[in-house]
Amino acid sequence: MSPNPLDFFANVIERETGIIYSGTNLYQLQMRLEDICRKEGVKSIDELALRFQGPGPELQLKQKLLDLATNNETLFFRDPIYFTTIGSFLQELCDRERIPEIRIWSAASSTGQEALSIAMTLDELSEKKALPPVSILATDICERALARAKAGLYTEFEVMRGLSEERRKKYFTKEGDSWRVRHSIHSRIQYGYNNLIRSAVYQRFHLIFCRNVLIYQKVDMKRSVIEALYRQLEPSGAILLGAGETMVGLKETVESEVRNTVTYYMKPREGAKRAS
Ligand SMILES: C[S@@+](CC[C@H](N)C(=O)[O-])C[C@H]1O[C@@H](n2cnc3c(N)ncnc32)[C@H](O)[C@@H]1O
Repeated sequence: MSPNPLDFFANVIERETGIIYSGTNLYQLQMRLEDICRKEGVKSIDELALRFQGPGPELQLKQKLLDLATNNETLFFRDPIYFTTIGSFLQELCDRERIPEIRIWSAASSTGQEALSIAMTLDELSEKKALPPVSILATDICERALARAKAGLYTEFEVMRGLSEERRKKYFTKEGDSWRVRHSIHSRIQYGYNNLIRSAVYQRFHLIFCRNVLIYQKVDMKRSVIEALYRQLEPSGAILLGAGETMVGLKETVESEVRNTVTYYMKPREGAKRAS
């Protein structure tokens, strides 16, 4: 074990999630670990580190560490232009490929706003044009965030961030001080635990959202996550990264297409000639 318990935990977090804590971030990690100590009745971070070194720390404690390591910042229709462009992308894909079902994955979905924004977008689209059935999978490594996504209950503050009044009325109902997403839209999403650096989801997708998660990872980890996501794309499908993220320098063979400033990283159809 590293002599410094903070370094020890930073190493565990990096190994388990790919998230890097170093330099000034270590202070943030210290605060979060102190919070776990208080809640667990552990006297110090050193003592917490000793508990972790035992023969397999309790799963619960390990999950608490992963939960605290993650940044779950998200909002409805984050970077709204993404949601404007997916309609035309999927429409063209359906017209060209005649697919029986559209499968979309919100990988690292946090508390669910991203997956719900996709579901609302497609619901609105289907009012204008017939679409094949859509299935949406939302996964995250953070159990706490996932539980909130599954519950579908949002605070006033959360619904004020990114949701128009029209959408709030159409897709949510007031419950006490909170807003509950209507079953008709919530039930279109399946929720599950997934660690992007460890396990694959045994499905292939036409669209994968993996936004604002790779920024916290080392270059070699970004590469392996991108490779894994790429393997899970259907031919002609696309991966969307966050507004400040890119595959440039991380994956050589990918094709890309920019739609209204949003880059779609595409998997060419088998047999299709690569554009040079
Ligand atoms: C900043 S949020 C982004 C949420 C959403 N994609 C968005 O753009 O609004 C990052 C999410 O990535 C998740 N995450 C971090 N590392 C992960 C990993 N190795 N596997 C799966 N999810 C991870 C975190 O738990 C967190 O919920």
